[in-house]
Amino acid sequence: MREGQPSRTAVQNALFRALEARRPARRRVADDPLAVRFLTPGFRVVAGLARVRVAAAVIEAFIDHRWPCVRGGVVARTRLIDEKVAAELPQVRQAVILGAGFDSRAYRLPAMRQVTVFEVDHPATQAAKRQAVQRSVGGPAGQVRFVPVIFGADDPAAKLADAGFEPGAMTLVLWEGVTNYLVPEAVDATFTFLAGVLGSGSPVVFTYVHRGIIDGTAVFEGADTTLRAVRRVGEPFTFGFDPAQLGGYLAARGFDLEWDTKVSEAAADLYPAGKCPPVPAYYHVAGARRR
Ligand SMILES: C[S@@+](CC[C@H](N)C(=O)[O-])C[C@H]1O[C@@H](n2cnc3c(N)ncnc32)[C@H](O)[C@@H]1O
Repeated sequence: MREGQPSRTAVQNALFRALEARRPARRRVADDPLAVRFLTPGFRVVAGLARVRVAAAVIEAFIDHRWPCVRGGVVARTRLIDEKVAAELPQVRQAVILGAGFDSRAYRLPAMRQVTVFEVDHPATQAAKRQAVQRSVGGPAGQVRFVPVIFGADDPAAKLADAGFEPGAMTLVLWEGVTNYLVPEAVDATFTFLAGVLGSGSPVVFTYVHRGIIDGTAVFEGADTTLRAVRRVGEPFTFGFDPAQLGGYLAARGFDLEWDTKVSEAAADLYPAGKCPPVPAYYHVAGARRR
């Protein structure tokens, strides 16, 4: 991330969700009506233009050219994660959203209102999110706590404890769109910290990229262009998992891997036949559970 600036990729993800949200309900794969309110003024203009169908087609074609496969992947994973999170929330007392960016789930999913939600993020992104929440929904909902943390530098357990997190309680953890921007030590430290504070049975939903696009051992459509694009905005991909080794990695840290879905497979199920935009086959959403 660029010094003192909110994450560019977090802002872009909100734009992709806002563009999807303006489609008619019957053609929408994911619905995040708050995303547009979290946008920067410039991106809000883009989302406004996209209400005109032809303009939307041009904007989406431009995005898909610059960031091949990314927009469709963000939309598909939003829907998949919404469903997974909604299914888990009734069983937990609290939720932790790591690297929350402009995630609006704490404000739009009814089941999120029943639990304490800790939004954990880099201070620079979180400062922008706080302003966006204030501007768009009049301030954080009563159950939301903001916790500024730099993964790999801060102690998230101490910061969460200061914010009122209950160690040992059943907790939903969402870690979407973040592991690929961290060094391996920070990913390891985060799973280790989670194993230390989560109650047995707590679900962890997270995303990752196939390690092959980081170390050059695998080739996927759109990956090269996306790797160049994220480097250009100062947020290079630095970490990925080998899907074949993910279960063992998690088991060694006290978690059972329950499911692991390629975003491209989720998209193929979610989009109507013939309407699926390019979606990355290297991007995964996975679910694990604390033993
Ligand atoms: C691509 S955005 C994902 C945001 C949101 N979860 C989503 O899926 O739209 C990456 C997020 O990770 C956060 N992030 C990246 N590196 C971080 C670090 N070292 N410490 C804390 N947060 C970090 C950024 O602030 C940003 O919110």
